Amino acid sequence: MSNRMWGGRFAEGPDAIMEEINASIDYDRKLYRQDIAGSKAHVAMLAAQGIVTADDAATITQGLDTILSEIEAGEFTFSRALEDIHMNIEARLAELVGPAAGRLHTARSRNDQVATDFRLWVRDTMDTLEEQLTELMQALAERADQHAGDVMPGFTHLQSAQPVTFGHHLLAYVEMFSRDRSRVRDARKRMNECPLGSAALAGTSFPIDRKATASALGFDRPMANSLDGVSDRDFIIEALADASICAMHLSRLAEEIVIWCSAQFGFIKLSDKFSTGSSIMPQKKNPDAAELVRAKTGRIYGSLQALLVMMKGLPLAYSKDMQEDKEQAFDGLASISLALAAMTGMVRDLEPVTKTMKKAAGSGYSTATDLADWLVRVLGMPFRNAHHVTGRIVAIAVEQGIELHKVSLAEMQAVEPKITDEIFSVLSVDKSVRSRTSYGGTSPVNVRKQARRWLKDLAKA
Ligand code: ARG
Repeated sequence: MSNRMWGGRFAEGPDAIMEEINASIDYDRKLYRQDIAGSKAHVAMLAAQGIVTADDAATITQGLDTILSEIEAGEFTFSRALEDIHMNIEARLAELVGPAAGRLHTARSRNDQVATDFRLWVRDTMDTLEEQLTELMQALAERADQHAGDVMPGFTHLQSAQPVTFGHHLLAYVEMFSRDRSRVRDARKRMNECPLGSAALAGTSFPIDRKATASALGFDRPMANSLDGVSDRDFIIEALADASICAMHLSRLAEEIVIWCSAQFGFIKLSDKFSTGSSIMPQKKNPDAAELVRAKTGRIYGSLQALLVMMKGLPLAYSKDMQEDKEQAFDGLASISLALAAMTGMVRDLEPVTKTMKKAAGSGYSTATDLADWLVRVLGMPFRNAHHVTGRIVAIAVEQGIELHKVSLAEMQAVEPKITDEIFSVLSVDKSVRSRTSYGGTSPVNVRKQARRWLKDLAKA
């Protein structure tokens, strides 16, 4: 049998393979709430404009409400023969309310319908992401405040560089996630325009009121060009690009968690709640959640890439290619959401081993820069010379297999006679971090101030 919705000119029904490649109901049923909201706004507008009668509009609206409760109660039968969520709902509406149902699709096409539904769905998802980012930042800032003065090694090239504080390190991520959050907010603002009323591509001859439907659905305004309205998917691509950048940040923190909780580092203990054991090695406690957060990045980048390629070179306006946007978007955005939730849980529960961190902070000649700075500050030496003198002292320490503060004064004076024993006062890691008071630097006073400022701002967000 040919399709009831569009099969007038068709003599035959679809091949089984056609049905399989064409049907999107298995995944786009997720859009049922948005589809019903869009239809209700549309029919209310049609009635207000005198395009359908108030009676028909009321009948249709009631039918749509019934369908909503059927779906939510799990009592709705989805059919692949009806392709997608839009036609499944409309067909059920016809069963429920009879011929009035056929008036709902006046001045509308599935092309503007799906574009509207999907924008609504992505918009809701962006709102959830924004909240999740706020929660993660809150968790990080709380831990930063608690550990503003706890020293850890700072790395460049994953080699000991200079001591920093654990709080400072965590606040670096707060800054990154705050930029992610502002990208999400920005994208949401840009996408909040309504395609409904674009119809198939050219607009419609019916006297519709696009401002009314746009505002009923919480959009800022109708999209200004009907061809653009039905044919762009940049809003979802932008959402996935924002998710990708955020996933990249998450993956760096996840990687650090994996490194930090290894026995060789021992900087943190992960809570049992976010770890797993091994079926063969009884001693194991593995950071699986962190590893999976790191791994989700690949899926999220993958969905962004898939949609960029799918959209590339598509002529205007709608093409069925665009139906492929949904699974990727659902998967990419569900993945970032899960990754954010897991990371927030890990950050809340992790236990820094401050003694180990501090000990590590003092190894690897990490206060060599402090020594060089002392030569500049106290002896008035140009920094380049100070760098060279310090390098020679480090070489002595390396040769003797000792830490920098264990090199004797006599040996330092053999390199630079003007050095006094005051030098030893700058070689401790605590002194080192306390001295880094420049704006944005790692001194505990700075870090505490920044953490509190964030906590205050985030409480308002
Ligand atoms: N299921 C379709 C999609 O997601 C809805 C739009 C179909 N429009 C069409 N002209 N066949 O893209």
